[in-house]
Amino acid sequence: MQLEGKVVLVTGGGGGIGAGMAEAFVERGARVAISDFNLDFARAEAERIGGGSIALAHDVTDLASWAAVKREIEGQLGPVEVLCNNAGIAVPFMPLEEIAPEAFARLLAVNVTGVYNGVRTFVPEMKARGAGHLVNTSSLNGLLPYATSAAYSATKFAVAGMSEALSIELAPFGIGVSILYPGLTRSRMSERHLPGADAAAMLAMRARMMEPVWLGRAVVRAVEENTLHIITHPDHRPALEARFDAILAAHGEPAQPDYAGGRLTQA
Ligand SMILES: NC(=O)c1ccc[n+]([C@@H]2O[C@H](COP(=O)([O-])OP(=O)(O)OC[C@H]3O[C@@H](n4cnc5c(N)ncnc54)[C@H](O)[C@@H]3O)[C@@H](O)[C@H]2O)c1
Repeated sequence: MQLEGKVVLVTGGGGGIGAGMAEAFVERGARVAISDFNLDFARAEAERIGGGSIALAHDVTDLASWAAVKREIEGQLGPVEVLCNNAGIAVPFMPLEEIAPEAFARLLAVNVTGVYNGVRTFVPEMKARGAGHLVNTSSLNGLLPYATSAAYSATKFAVAGMSEALSIELAPFGIGVSILYPGLTRSRMSERHLPGADAAAMLAMRARMMEPVWLGRAVVRAVEENTLHIITHPDHRPALEARFDAILAAHGEPAQPDYAGGRLTQA
């Protein structure tokens, strides 16, 4: 998709990776709406980025809030052609059983239901127009689990699985899907949730964080070229290879000797 003049919504764009995406879309001449739970964050980024970008209050867990955001963008910019489901939260690194039920439910609501809500709000019109693109922010934790990050990993695996299925489902309608799998990137979230390291290790990690606008530029290229997987931190490849190898190595004989095979095939 060519992006000049296109209308893009970036959720959770009030900082970090979402702001980097918004900046990169504006660099390409797109008209960008930045939504965030924290309207002050969204306003500050819209002002910094410029290019006619607008800021909106948004709770991705709430379908009524999605409807209000949709109305507002259509009034100010026109129909949304690229939806970036980027808003997300994390919980501190800790054993899964110690996470409070309310915190676990909120994590699922923002990171998983938030993406579903975006699809439910915008995909019907994209289908009717026969065009559109979704960018869903997963994480390297959506490909590579990290100990004491089980709940967050669960949500990011969910985003990756949902998005990959959608890419097959929506291709016949002319709608592209991209999945962003960031590694450590500078943001309020990553500054807050560094894995239990000492002060020196935290300083070293901070220094290694990628700057969000570079992820944004990778996202822009993926939308332009309709690329499914966006890997911005290729240094994790050996760990990914080891994980995939272990899964492939588990493929021996079927558990039932006379099993005929029955994989659901794609259309
Ligand atoms: N920073 C990293 O290293 C990293 C790595 C992998 C994945 N991610 C993912 O990238 C995305 C962006 O995170 P970030 O690191 O830029 O953090 P961030 O905290 O800077 O940005 C997330 C934004 O989402 C907003 N938000 C939270 N709940 C919301 C809700 N209910 N409705 C709307 N907005 C809401 C927050 O106010 C915040 O501005 C998240 O999905 C995160 O899980 C980040």
